[in-house]
Amino acid sequence: MKKLENKTVIVTGGGGGIGGATCRRLALEGAKVAVFDMNLEAAQRVAADIQSAGGTAAAYKCDITDRIDVDAAVAAAEAQLGPIDVLINNAGWDVFKPFTKTVPAEWDKLISINLVGALHMHHAVLPGMVARKSGRIINIASDAARVGSSGEAVYAACKGGLVAFSKTIAREHARHGITVNVVCPGPTDTALLAGVAEGAPSPEKLLEAFAKAIPLGRIGQPEDLAGAIAFFASDDAGFITGQVISVSGGLTMNG
Ligand SMILES: NC(=O)c1ccc[n+]([C@@H]2O[C@H](COP(=O)([O-])OP(=O)(O)OC[C@H]3O[C@@H](n4cnc5c(N)ncnc54)[C@H](O)[C@@H]3O)[C@@H](O)[C@H]2O)c1
Repeated sequence: MKKLENKTVIVTGGGGGIGGATCRRLALEGAKVAVFDMNLEAAQRVAADIQSAGGTAAAYKCDITDRIDVDAAVAAAEAQLGPIDVLINNAGWDVFKPFTKTVPAEWDKLISINLVGALHMHHAVLPGMVARKSGRIINIASDAARVGSSGEAVYAACKGGLVAFSKTIAREHARHGITVNVVCPGPTDTALLAGVAEGAPSPEKLLEAFAKAIPLGRIGQPEDLAGAIAFFASDDAGFITGQVISVSGGLTMNG
């Protein structure tokens, strides 16, 4: 039997690299996938792929930094696909610069996408999960949250905040049958990583250095993340909450 048969899942940033791979994998596991992205065309492409492979998906334009957008998209997804069983907060953005070279407008953008956006999504979806006494939330942070990362100070602060927030929500809502876990990618071959590399003096050298630093010897692919995310969304992970796992080829090895 498929692991997520008939579960309704929201994936934010579902039009992107890791989000798109996650949507496709969850659909293969039988989920009805609400592909949320501020880039509606990207979300529609992922939903169309899933539909043409025989799965169930719908695309929704949603800027997670805008609470009105979030509430409208969640209501539309619930009306079309049913109550939300699984929420995957994956949308993210980064800019690669030493902290002293950044400006406060960049901090505001980083914080509103990488931290506040996930808070809006939790705030919109949790009350329904509480009422149904069941739910799964998976938050996509970063190895930068666990060990720091030069050039990503404010991004790392947001992701570290997301880890602490996830553990707290896991404690507050365990009694409601809701689990909250965090998946930390390392460098993964997506548009976001390409953007980060562009900010470096030599993008190619930076990517080579990342690959060399990874014990398994390569940059991650979006599909590498999708399996761990699908596991946390499934019944097999029902007794796991408040946990943080790196999917980064061994880049970080935290006890
Ligand atoms: N790629 C990496 O190396 C890497 C490493 C560590 C963590 N991550 C995290 O993985 C997650 C997915 O990133 P990715 O690498 O797939 O990037 P990506 O750029 O391929 O995808 C990100 C998606 O998020 C969407 N998005 C951005 N801002 C949004 C907003 N305000 N509202 C709604 N959607 C928005 C974009 O349109 C895009 O489709 C992010 O949270 C990122 O921080 C990525």
